[in-house]
Amino acid sequence: MASRKICILGGTGFVGRHLANELYRRGDQVLVLTASRERHRELLIVPSLTLREVDVFDTPALEQAIAGQDVVINLIGILNERGHDGSGFKRVHTDLARQVAESCRKQGVPRLLHMSALGADPGRAPSYYLRSKGEGESQVMMQARPDVAVTIFRPSVIFGPGDSFINRFAGLLRLVPLAFPLACHQSRYAPVYVGDVVRGFADSIDDPDTYGQRYDLCGPHIYTLKEIVEFTARTAGLRRRIIGLNDFFSRLQAGIMEFLPGKPLSLDNYHSARVGNICGERNGLDFFGIEPTPMEAVVPTYVGGRTARDQYPGYRREARSGRHG
Ligand SMILES: NC(=O)c1ccc[n+]([C@@H]2O[C@H](COP(=O)([O-])OP(=O)(O)OC[C@H]3O[C@@H](n4cnc5c(N)ncnc54)[C@H](OP(=O)(O)O)[C@@H]3O)[C@@H](O)[C@H]2O)c1
Repeated sequence: MASRKICILGGTGFVGRHLANELYRRGDQVLVLTASRERHRELLIVPSLTLREVDVFDTPALEQAIAGQDVVINLIGILNERGHDGSGFKRVHTDLARQVAESCRKQGVPRLLHMSALGADPGRAPSYYLRSKGEGESQVMMQARPDVAVTIFRPSVIFGPGDSFINRFAGLLRLVPLAFPLACHQSRYAPVYVGDVVRGFADSIDDPDTYGQRYDLCGPHIYTLKEIVEFTARTAGLRRRIIGLNDFFSRLQAGIMEFLPGKPLSLDNYHSARVGNICGERNGLDFFGIEPTPMEAVVPTYVGGRTARDQYPGYRREARSGRHG
């Protein structure tokens, strides 16, 4: 099969790096656009990967960069905006997403994969993040038609080496001794492995059945946030008591933390967490014939420096008590 020319926007991030590797393994030529080549120089070690400095918000520059590509993959996303009014989310998740689709159409790029998020909904979602992602989906579908074949992916929270979810909790747990106060502890997630997500992306490229489709992507088990954080603490070898905060204190903690450097938690995150982050009837991974990988098989390989085998006794105990699934 001839090598495909694939341009990734947001290819310098967590998912992007895994995807670039997956596509390289499959023999594709990968072009990653970045605002700063210098900041991501280490990506250049991936053979057949080109890293090009482009301001993706500069439409002529974007169009020039994607011209002649067989596929464009848009992974650009933010978890928090600088301000507090939703305009930052709209700029990245809606306006840029629409522009990317329109530019693909204008430049004759025939295939576009777009990354959204589980729970995205332009009207009913409770947070700016999820509403802007939902609006982005609608805009992408509208702009791309009929010339560009679009597939949209909507994962639950993604774990894997380099993630910011499990690793962030592991870091915070190390900082806070004994008891760890946790906002939104009852929120439910179906964490999905990054390796499964990028396989779904790569498998979809040449599959016409995926054109015009949206896929919710979930892992094999549903956990509350408290269970995930307890699992992270155990895996990192940290003895911590996780104290779930009630709604009032969750909101208060989010309201305070959104003014800390790096916004470890924001009110918008709090609003997102109010809806379940789990798949409905159908997990999109089924469509691709991908058996979802459990957190327990992977997280110990990058948190706590312990191997998965070291964790088996704990998992057996958990399985016997039937807590997950
Ligand atoms: N990780 C998850 O659990 C999860 C779950 C559901 C959906 N998603 C979605 O999946 C996508 C990838 O997530 P990720 O975890 O890989 O995120 P990430 O590690 O934060 O990477 C985000 C990427 O977007 C780029 N980016 C962000 N803001 C930008 C801007 N203003 N202009 C240009 N580039 C910008 C970043 O480039 P720089 O590094 O150069 O800034 C980076 O390459 C996002 O759309 C996210 O919403 C992620």
